[in-house]
Amino acid sequence: MGTARSLQKLLSEKQIQKKVSCLARQLSRDYAGKEVLLVGVLKGAFIFMADLSRRMTVPVKMDFVRLASYGSGTRSSGKIRFTKDLEMPVRGKDVLVVEDIIDTGISLHSLYRRLRARSPKSLKVVALLDKPKRREIDFHPDYLGFSIDDHFVVGYGLDCAEEYRHLPGIYFIRENGPCARARTK
Ligand code: IMP
Ligand code: MG
Repeated sequence: MGTARSLQKLLSEKQIQKKVSCLARQLSRDYAGKEVLLVGVLKGAFIFMADLSRRMTVPVKMDFVRLASYGSGTRSSGKIRFTKDLEMPVRGKDVLVVEDIIDTGISLHSLYRRLRARSPKSLKVVALLDKPKRREIDFHPDYLGFSIDDHFVVGYGLDCAEEYRHLPGIYFIRENGPCARARTK
């Protein structure tokens, strides 16, 4: 499609890897002596979770959820459902949700409540990116990589119509294309 030219680098591979190492160190300290159940939110978090988990020095298990919001249109309706639920029980476990980006906060807020109801021993959230200006529901991750402005970003697991997930850096789409427009209120 030749869309590469419309991407502008926001975070380099080096910056991301440095931050992921830093988060992994912090998490390994905070979860010392424990086993962590990492819950990745598909699809966007798969690369972040792969890198993060390999740098953590505490034992981890991994599971994934996939979420979809009810209703149509580009704005979230405020409710989510699992299109893929966890395969492991979380009762009594130290659960860490791994998310790529927090935008309105709706998905994580809803996921957090759903997992909380299953009585994990602890429940925390690590997000690589946060766009606090777009928040509609108050939600703060326990661990955060980068706080960014209101750009639609791609790369490092994040997509625009399934493109760009494989890029090692994170980019924003400069032109007013469909993905950039979809997120504009
Ligand atoms: P929220 O419920 O509005 O916080 O939506 C979060 C989800 O929307 C993320 O997990 C992403 O899958 C997606 N999303 C939000 N912003 C972006 C972006 O800039 N690029 C790619 N996906 C995004
Ligand atoms: Mg996501």
